[in-house]
Amino acid sequence: MITLLSPAKVNLFLKIVAKRNDGYHELISLFQTISLADTITIEKAMEDRISCSDTSVPTDETNTVAKALAAYRKRSTAKDAFHVAIQKRIPHGAGLGGGSSNAATALFGLNALAKEPVSERDLIDAASEVGSDVPFFLSGGTAICKGRGEIIEEVSPLKKRSLYIVMPDFTLSTPKVYGKVRVENLSGRDFPKSACEISSENYPCFNDLEAPAFELAPQLKEYKTYLSSQGYERVFMSGSGSSLVIFCSKPPALPPGCRLYSASFINRKRGYWYDTPLPL
Ligand code: C5P
Repeated sequence: MITLLSPAKVNLFLKIVAKRNDGYHELISLFQTISLADTITIEKAMEDRISCSDTSVPTDETNTVAKALAAYRKRSTAKDAFHVAIQKRIPHGAGLGGGSSNAATALFGLNALAKEPVSERDLIDAASEVGSDVPFFLSGGTAICKGRGEIIEEVSPLKKRSLYIVMPDFTLSTPKVYGKVRVENLSGRDFPKSACEISSENYPCFNDLEAPAFELAPQLKEYKTYLSSQGYERVFMSGSGSSLVIFCSKPPALPPGCRLYSASFINRKRGYWYDTPLPL
């Protein structure tokens, strides 16, 4: 049996580059893992089963962990069945990558338990099959992600930052937010296009998905205005929302109905899965 931390991510910047013929959007985004995290426990069982501390999360084949199990099996000779238990803390529908992180952590854990582990390349392929953001979580925790998000360029750890996540009382659907993107309306702003252009302290924070998200949820724009009016230098949406990220060390005054999470940047050290030394 193993228990692993499954961290959330924030997108420090997210630039949409183009709409592709396969319906996905080509992006360039700086992803960072943060200390807000779920935990995943994996143990051998008579048959596959997923359980979750948050009963509103479906535990059927639509759960990203079930998809991770299926993608892993395609690449492995192992025949074992598993019970995967998710202790949820990361809010869902928030743009914080909770489901993607759970899938990547499950893939990593399954491989750690396997007598004949699959190669790192196979693990990344399995992750990419589960979702665009999943391969990032197998990185060191800071990366420029390109393509539909699955092409990873590792970045050296950034200067540690404290931040707050403001979670509204509504969620946003990723496909619906992407569906509102109008490529012709995107700004032509300058931004770092590769890992070597990222400085540890100075990087832009912006998100091209804000305008489409604000169109779907005008209240979110009001929340950003309210938080920005408190004088914080950086207030921006993570991923496809609905969460907003603020760089600050003291809690902000909250818009009504919002929940607040305190976090900081974390990275995975060589030879560790976050706080767990390897081999497990
Ligand atoms: O890959 P994933 O399942 O996480 O993507 C969910 C949905 O988000 C896709 O079906 C697509 O509508 C949208 N998406 C996109 N461009 C991306 C990533 C996701 O349009 N780069």
